[in-house]
Formats: sequence, C-alpha cells, structure tokens
Amino acid sequence: MNERVEALRKAHSATILAFESSCDETAVAIVRDGRKILANQILSQIDRHAVFGGVVPEIASRMHVEALDPLLDAALDEAGMTLADIDAVAVTCGPGLVGALLTGVSYAKALAYARGLPLVAVNHIEGHVSANYLAHPDLEPPFACLVASGGHSHIVLVEHYGEYRLLGQTLDDAAGEAFDKVARVLDIPYPGGPLLDKLAEEGDERRYTFPHPHTPGRYDFSFSGLKTAVINQAHTIRQQGGEIAAADFAASFRRAVVDALVEKSVAAAVEAGATALAAAGGVAANRLLRRELERRGAQAGLRVFLPPAALCTDNAAMIGSAAFYRLMRGETAQLDLNALPSLSMFA
Ligand code: KG4
Ligand code: ZN
Repeated sequence: MNERVEALRKAHSATILAFESSCDETAVAIVRDGRKILANQILSQIDRHAVFGGVVPEIASRMHVEALDPLLDAALDEAGMTLADIDAVAVTCGPGLVGALLTGVSYAKALAYARGLPLVAVNHIEGHVSANYLAHPDLEPPFACLVASGGHSHIVLVEHYGEYRLLGQTLDDAAGEAFDKVARVLDIPYPGGPLLDKLAEEGDERRYTFPHPHTPGRYDFSFSGLKTAVINQAHTIRQQGGEIAAADFAASFRRAVVDALVEKSVAAAVEAGATALAAAGGVAANRLLRRELERRGAQAGLRVFLPPAALCTDNAAMIGSAAFYRLMRGETAQLDLNALPSLSMFA
C-alpha cells in the first residue's frame, strides 16, 4: 500500500474518488490532481427534511445508505471510468451528523479495502476551503478564507496546503443557521438562506434597523443576538397588527449579516498579511456577500476568489480536492477510521 502512495506522490498525480455524507447531501465525485472535476454527483435530501423544518438525522442516514451505490455508478458513468481508473478513495470523516458521516466512512472504507486503494480522510470544512482550488487553477496558499455554512463560520489563514490558522470564528450561531432561522419567521421553507437571499434582492435594506453584532474578539462573529432581535421585531410588528414587508425585512437582515462577515474577513486577511481572500461554504453563495467581498476586498488591495455557487454548497468534488493535497503529503487513513462529529481543522 505504501508503495502505491509513494508512486502517486512521486508522480504528483492522482485520480481520487470522493464521498461526502456529513449532512443532508449525498455526494460522490471524481477529481484529478486536486484541481479538475471529472464527475460531480449530488443528491439533495432537502425535500424530505423540509416538512420537518430542519434536517432529521435518522432520515439523513437512511437516505445516504440508499443513495451511495447509484451515485457511485453515476459518477463513474459521468467520468467515463471504471473503478480500475481510481487511484485513491476519499471521504469526509467530520464534522457533521455522526450517523450520516458513518454511512460515507463505512462505504469508503469497504471500497478502499476491496480495491486495495489508499484511503484519505477529509475534514468537511477543509473541503469547503478546497472548493477554491477547483474553481481557481491559479490560487495557491497562502490566502485567507471566509468559511460560512449552516454549521460553521470561520475566518482561516491557509498557510500551506493542509495547514490552517484560525483568525476568527462565530461565538454562537453559524451565519447559515441565522439565515435559516430568520427565513422561518418570514414563512420561507427550509433551508431558507437561498430564498431569503433572492427575496432580499428586491428589498430596501434601509427599511428596518437591526443591531450590528459586536464581538469582543476582533475577528470573531456573533449572530445569535442579531437573530433574536430580528425575530422579536417580527413578532412585535405582528402583535401590533402590522404587516412585515418581507423583501425589505430580508434585505435589512441580510445587510447586517453580510456587513459583519465582510468587515471582519477583509480586516483579518489584511492584518494576517494575506494578499488574497477566498470564500467558501453555503453562505458564500449569497449574492450580497459576493458583491461586497469583491468590492471591499478590492478596496483593501486583496485579490478575491469566489467559487461558483454550486461549489459553495456541499459537494464531494471539494473533498476530492482536499484529499489530493493530503495524499501528496502521505497522509492516509487506516481502516479503523471512525466518524468524528466534532472534528476540528486546527491542531
Ligand atoms: O455548506 P452548506 O451547503 O452545508 C453545511 O456544511 O452547513 O451550507 C448550507 C447553508 C444553509 O444554512 C443555507 O441556508 C445557506 O448555507 N445558504 C445561503 C445561501 N445559499 C445557501 N445562505 C444565504 N444566502 C444564500 N444564497
Ligand atoms: Zn458544508
């Protein structure tokens, strides 16, 4: 096995089959040399969870089990490949829902064992950051990256491939979670982030005033107070018999979140001495966030890198990219690999 890894490292080349099942998307991808997507299959379970207003872990696990086999076939078809063309198997081992993670981890381990292939374990957040390598062939570390998803909001400095320094993070709710909760108050179905964003495009962001979050750590975020203030204001308006102008409300809230994310990530990037700022995670699909990162990033002299929206939300191609750089450092996992629901990216 080690000889196999050594040969791939020497050639600095590998075709990696990657699995992602940490939450409510089952995804299988094939990625060459960390940069080129040969197949990218995603099955979203959102419709099944929407009626419950959030992800139901047990349903997620069951649906992953059903989806993995057909998605693997579809990915091989898309790439015009067979398993004989695959050099290594990669899988998200955390963070995420333990049962959901276990389905992908077990599947990838079985496949790696049966085919005698190296196994690479990937941190989901590291995967999000690595989506930038797929979208931007010229992007290399060092760079700063804002990672904002349903479960996480971090500002990281990517010092080298696979080496991360935490510059700031949320002290309470993730940005995506705040979007989803506020969307709920506006009767937007789960996950509300994308639809709230769309609605906000039509709204007047000065119509409602919301507190802009203050945080003690200079580059940390806090969205819980903002979320509560927004929800309380909605209830107050309704109790007084008023009506909420939904588009204006969405726009005003979106502005408060985006301002916090952009101000802190641009300032953190500059102070860390980075010349480039990237974004990642589902919230990086947000239209205002993208515009503001471009604008204020450029004003601060940063090159700004944004993956296309489809690579911001959960996918397995990003896992295949992160896995390539791990494999090139000889970082393979053993067959006792377990799901690690609270895995951190920082040593
Ligand atoms: O990265 P992701 O697909 O899954 C996690 O790892 O959490 O992120 C999903 C989150 C959800 O909270 C969703 O509402 C949010 O990203 N999201 C958005 C947008 N698209 C997805 N939030 C705001 N604006 C968007 N356009
Ligand atoms: Zn994610």
